[in-house]
Amino acid sequence: MNRIYLDHAATTPLDKRVLKEMQPYFSEKYGNASSLHFFGTEAREAMEKSRDAIAKAINARPEEIVFTSGGTESDNIAVKGVAFGNKKRGKRVITSKIEHHAISHTCQFLEKDGFEVSYLNVDKEGSIDLAELEKEIGEGTTLVSVMHANNEIGAIQPVKEIGKLCREKGIYFHTDAVQSVGKERIDVEKMGIDLLSASGHKFYGPKGIGFLYARKGTKIHPLMHGGGHEKGIRPGTENVAGIVGMAAALKIAEKEREKENARERKLAKKLVNGALKIENSWLNGPAVGKARLSNNVNLGFDFVEGESIVLMLSDKGIAASTGSACSTRDLQPSHVLRAIGLPHVKCHGSLRLTLGRGNTGKDIDVVLKELPSIVKKLREISPLRKGVDISEFEEDVEHTHKH
Ligand SMILES: Cc1ncc(COP(=O)(O)O)c(C=O)c1O
Repeated sequence: MNRIYLDHAATTPLDKRVLKEMQPYFSEKYGNASSLHFFGTEAREAMEKSRDAIAKAINARPEEIVFTSGGTESDNIAVKGVAFGNKKRGKRVITSKIEHHAISHTCQFLEKDGFEVSYLNVDKEGSIDLAELEKEIGEGTTLVSVMHANNEIGAIQPVKEIGKLCREKGIYFHTDAVQSVGKERIDVEKMGIDLLSASGHKFYGPKGIGFLYARKGTKIHPLMHGGGHEKGIRPGTENVAGIVGMAAALKIAEKEREKENARERKLAKKLVNGALKIENSWLNGPAVGKARLSNNVNLGFDFVEGESIVLMLSDKGIAASTGSACSTRDLQPSHVLRAIGLPHVKCHGSLRLTLGRGNTGKDIDVVLKELPSIVKKLREISPLRKGVDISEFEEDVEHTHKH
């Protein structure tokens, strides 16, 4: 069976060019980057060259890049590290209602520790309101953490405007850019970003490696203690092969970004236009071509469960997702879809298809061939199918998003 991968927001395949760059650092060049001998020098030089390349890609200084194990760790260091490190100035943090759990659960942890956290609303496109942000910034606010691009609906936030506001108010601004690094142009200077999280495996690099950009002078309380690696912010022997791979992957992504974005956008449009021919369906999040990641498609279908569609697509060799990592485990509707105003009953029928380098128009043809019959089959057995009384949801249904 032909396998079609449409889950690039979950992870991407390692680029073969990246693997080639990494290989020597597993076998011949295996030194510890802290060692004084030539094995150490070799590893250290490769690591620092990688740091330079990553810094250059986001217009930062090399000493502002901290290597971590991925997006989750970068988010934890940014939010807890800054909150704890600036406790004397206040214990207020602002975030949004559509953050990844690496941020939202970290914020909940802070609340248990006596911090006050404001969760900003978003509009039906998934965008925060700058006026609400400004209103929420009050006495004792030390950090604003708002993601650059959303992992479920691909919505891109007005990061530059948020950065400007935070700068004016003298507050640290962190952005979780795990989904946007390598896909959107990032300039930490122009965008007023003080801290930024990224993860290698989202841009065709290896898993288990990421970085945190932390502007020079940012007060961060380390979460781990050990040797003095990464300026003491993230101690532990560095993953040199991973670091080399992540830098190589980012260089490729930056070079190919615009061309690849335009290609993916075209495929996304084809996919959306075709899928919306299915009745009682809609697109979650901004329209393709608007403030949305070029590779993200998130569809909604009435009277079906997204998980069932994913399983049936999987049977046909198509890898997709519902978009919400937790939904399969605890049956909670996606907090992102709820935040954009989708009624509870409509949150369960979401399907996220995220495109990538390997996808072609033919893949979209296959999806568009299989999807209508899968939805039809599921609706036939669904208790929520058309014709069943759903009046108890009437109030919710009024807010239905149709694009
Ligand atoms: C927006 C966002 N933040 C953080 C993470 C966590 O990254 P990692 O898997 O590298 O820990 C993800 C992963 O899906 C993500 O999409």
